[in-house]
Amino acid sequence: MNTRFWKVDLNKKDEDNAVREAARLLQEGGTVAFPTETVYGLGADAGSSEAVANIFAAKGRPSDNPLIVHIADRAQLDRLVEPYPDAAGRLMDRFWPGPLTIVLPAKPGAVSPLVTAGLPTVGVRMPAHPLALRLIAEAGCAVAAPSANRSGRPSPTHARHVREDLAGRIGGILDGGPAGIGLESTVVELVDGGGVRILRPGGITRAQLQEVVEHVVLDESLQADDPAHSAATFTAEAKVASPSAEMVTMPEISPETLPSPSTAFVPRSPGMKYTHYAPQGDLHVVQGNSRETIVEWIQSQIKLASARGDKTGVLTYAEYVDNFQADVVISLGSVHNLAEAANGLYAALRKFDELQVRFILAEACEEQGIGFAVMNRLRRAAGHHVVTV
Ligand code: TXA
Ligand code: MG
Repeated sequence: MNTRFWKVDLNKKDEDNAVREAARLLQEGGTVAFPTETVYGLGADAGSSEAVANIFAAKGRPSDNPLIVHIADRAQLDRLVEPYPDAAGRLMDRFWPGPLTIVLPAKPGAVSPLVTAGLPTVGVRMPAHPLALRLIAEAGCAVAAPSANRSGRPSPTHARHVREDLAGRIGGILDGGPAGIGLESTVVELVDGGGVRILRPGGITRAQLQEVVEHVVLDESLQADDPAHSAATFTAEAKVASPSAEMVTMPEISPETLPSPSTAFVPRSPGMKYTHYAPQGDLHVVQGNSRETIVEWIQSQIKLASARGDKTGVLTYAEYVDNFQADVVISLGSVHNLAEAANGLYAALRKFDELQVRFILAEACEEQGIGFAVMNRLRRAAGHHVVTV
């Protein structure tokens, strides 16, 4: 397939043509990648099973993982969903357009059953990116769009990431520059009594949600990520992996094994059970209370890996980059500004792949605010291999 490519300068007129052509492709049942304020999405007409099937085929995405439906205005929403609780309306008023996906009761027949993966609900969001909004409005249909990466790979935050993964497999790519936040939207469902349950942490933090709804709970699949629970994990793990511990056993990760469903739990958000964002090298997250111990341990493991002949990498923060000697050291920006970490995480993981790094140690960050979503993605990218030193 010949993939069209439009470079769009938001301040210039050529944008109109590009958007019109891309919208036509969508109307004809094609797939178009476009920027949003979170990551690049791969869109298709949500009402057409034929079109949506093209998304699953291009990404190699498992069919039981539902897609988010993107809209440009509230009139579109009314055609997609049944009446919903007040809390949902308040969330829309406050956070739309923006990085919040709300799981709502689907109107039967409103979208292709492929979009909902057979669920009675549909995840909807109104993206806060001018190009995304114009494309959806011009196409005149709701647009189903997962992140525009091959399944299992880190989500794309630049058009070139989409190209790497999907050139030749999709109809077109609208290049509107870097995506904004760098991590996907927060996905919530409503619970009785006016609250919400976070199914996937993201651009809208727990604290922001709490300003609008009665109570906010975390899905069971995220409990291990909850800072309130991590103290217990900390001591348990510390015994296993002390700084003097032998090299931790590194499981071989090969691209063919992705995505692999975990059988440990059945999350409410089907997408959360698949391996995601994983680089091709072995990635482990390292956490601990003492800077000295963390640095010493990472350096000792990097030395061992180098001795084995592995190309090594460290993912850390601006304040600490000088502490490490590895083949590739990448900074995610200041530890005091985790929005930068969110912004650079996926590009960093892709960089390690590009440089064929085999052994990667990533420093954990504080799980406050957007840091909670950063750690969620980092843990998943590492296949939940977290070492406490
Ligand atoms: O920021 C984003 O949300 C990006 C951009 C492109 O908008 N999209 C995105 O889509 O991340 P995707 O397909 O990679 O992730 C969709 C997530 C999955 O975890 C999926 O399980 C969940 O949303 N989801 C979608 N519909 C759902 C539903 N009806 N019930 C529960 N979870 C749902
Ligand atoms: Mg995705």
